[in-house]
Amino acid sequence: MTLLMKYNKVLGIDIGGSGIKGAPVNTDDGLMLEPRYRIPTPSPATPDNVAPLIAEMVKHFKWDGPVGCGFPGVVQHGIARTAANIDDSWIDTNVDKLFLKATGLPVSVVNDADAAGLAEMKFGAGIDAMGVVFLCTVGTGIGTVLFVDGKLVPNTELGHIELMGMDAEKFASDAARKAEELTWEDWAKRFNQYLLSIEKLINPDLIIVGGGASKKGELFLPYLKLKTRVVPAELLNNAGLVGAALAAKYMQKLDKKDRKNKKEKKVKRVKKK
Ligand code: BGC
Repeated sequence: MTLLMKYNKVLGIDIGGSGIKGAPVNTDDGLMLEPRYRIPTPSPATPDNVAPLIAEMVKHFKWDGPVGCGFPGVVQHGIARTAANIDDSWIDTNVDKLFLKATGLPVSVVNDADAAGLAEMKFGAGIDAMGVVFLCTVGTGIGTVLFVDGKLVPNTELGHIELMGMDAEKFASDAARKAEELTWEDWAKRFNQYLLSIEKLINPDLIIVGGGASKKGELFLPYLKLKTRVVPAELLNNAGLVGAALAAKYMQKLDKKDRKNKKEKKVKRVKKK
């Protein structure tokens, strides 16, 4: 049994545009075991500047177990592939390895929206939701998550579809609402346009809206006019770090399955010869 499989306590960390938040999480019930700790995101938020803060987080909780971390970009097998709202120098960085070196602990890094989605599906608005579930986190950017019968399709990045001739998240994120001082109603109209495009593309059965904006659901949900049922996320601020902790377990299981499948295929091939 590996270190990760043995534990149901994982330190969850969420790297965000303004803060890096963390707390130990019980992955069986999604509850935080201690009050969360927040460190302001440095500027520039380069790998060299962020890695010591992950070590500080570990030190703050005197943590010596597994760590799961949400990152605001595409992460494939621990390697960052995009960095829309964080420093470009992350691209092609092996973040798992970087944080392992900084902390001395096994760290599983995943896309931040995927992490938040896992938490919502297990403990929040998506419990028992089958079919195609689309979840988006609306904050500095628009993070997107897709579940098919409860299974995550990672790194979907549908916040970057083209809308009104521009990157959708530049048009309809919470950051755009603040920067352009839009009223909630005006912003809701833009967000509705965004969700209409998503509806056209993937025809989901349920849409869950998470991220910073989800705390203000009553101010914009009434303006949304879609075929699909839309509900606010329930875990609010903590979905990112709770999900990062869950993802550490989830990814470990997938990797294990992958290795097992490869091994079995190899054995079959050898037998055939
Ligand atoms: C990134 C996504 C991320 C989202 C929320 C987007 O700009 O491309 O990977 O999930 O912001 O942080």
